[in-house]
Amino acid sequence: MELRTLEWITYGWIALAIIVHVTMFFVTAPFGRHTSAKWGPTINNKLGWFIMELPSLGIMVYFLFRGSNAFANYAWILFALWIAHYVNRTVIYPLRIRATPKRMPVFIVCNAILFNLMNAGLNGYYLAELAPAEQYDASWLTSAHFIIGAIVFACGMFINMKSDTMLINLRAKTGTGYRIPKGFLFDRISSPNLFGEIIEWTGFAIMAWNLPALSFMVWTFANLVPRAKNHHDWYHRTFSDYPKERKVVFPGVF
Ligand SMILES: NC(=O)c1ccc[n+]([C@@H]2O[C@H](COP(=O)([O-])OP(=O)(O)OC[C@H]3O[C@@H](n4cnc5c(N)ncnc54)[C@H](OP(=O)(O)O)[C@@H]3O)[C@@H](O)[C@H]2O)c1
Repeated sequence: MELRTLEWITYGWIALAIIVHVTMFFVTAPFGRHTSAKWGPTINNKLGWFIMELPSLGIMVYFLFRGSNAFANYAWILFALWIAHYVNRTVIYPLRIRATPKRMPVFIVCNAILFNLMNAGLNGYYLAELAPAEQYDASWLTSAHFIIGAIVFACGMFINMKSDTMLINLRAKTGTGYRIPKGFLFDRISSPNLFGEIIEWTGFAIMAWNLPALSFMVWTFANLVPRAKNHHDWYHRTFSDYPKERKVVFPGVF
């Protein structure tokens, strides 16, 4: 595929993200606490997470080892960060979440597979096949956007994983129910885990400084801001004593 073709596909993909973003404020994605039997057949929740995230991991591993250029320069660092995130999301995270009777609609799994095929496909193909060799040469490692992006990525990953861990531990003592999370960024926003994920892929886009990485940042924002709003509204509906001062997902802003 020519670079121009990949760019046009990516522009179209970004346009779709904007449509999905607006739609998701009106249609709640039915998994986790919002799961619903109205969306057709369902599968085991942990298995659903594994199946839907596996394409992202597999595609990046494929392009890293079988692509033309991943080791011709330092692009392998971007592959390594992506793969580290998706080893957690595909294997470790589903093993850690508490088993509940809740199931995931196959519809969600199919949508997430498409999301992951496109995002990993565009990013992996660009980095392994199309990126100019000098884009990720040794001078990239000392560029401002590499250093700033790496710091932002690391902060985002830390916030995401710490918040996910706190949520998982909330249920350690309470069976399958929900409690109001407290401490860390939970005192400021309802979904620090989603905030961390948005920060993480913003950092990745700053490091990588290419169109597919930008599109993945846009998609993460497009997906997770409405999901965080759905979580926030759900907390207010479910707990009459839910702290009023908490924002949705961006501390002090929204
Ligand atoms: N890149 C993307 O576009 C994307 C899209 C979706 C998710 N993700 C990531 O995937 C992870 C999970 O997302 P999510 O929206 O499913 O997260 P979530 O609703 O916050 O749930 C995280 C885990 O904690 C449990 N939990 C949440 N709130 C709880 C509470 N108040 N009390 C007890 N347990 C609680 C959930 O159980 P239940 O499942 O039983 O509710 C689930 O096992 C996040 O790290 C997110 O960033 C990324």
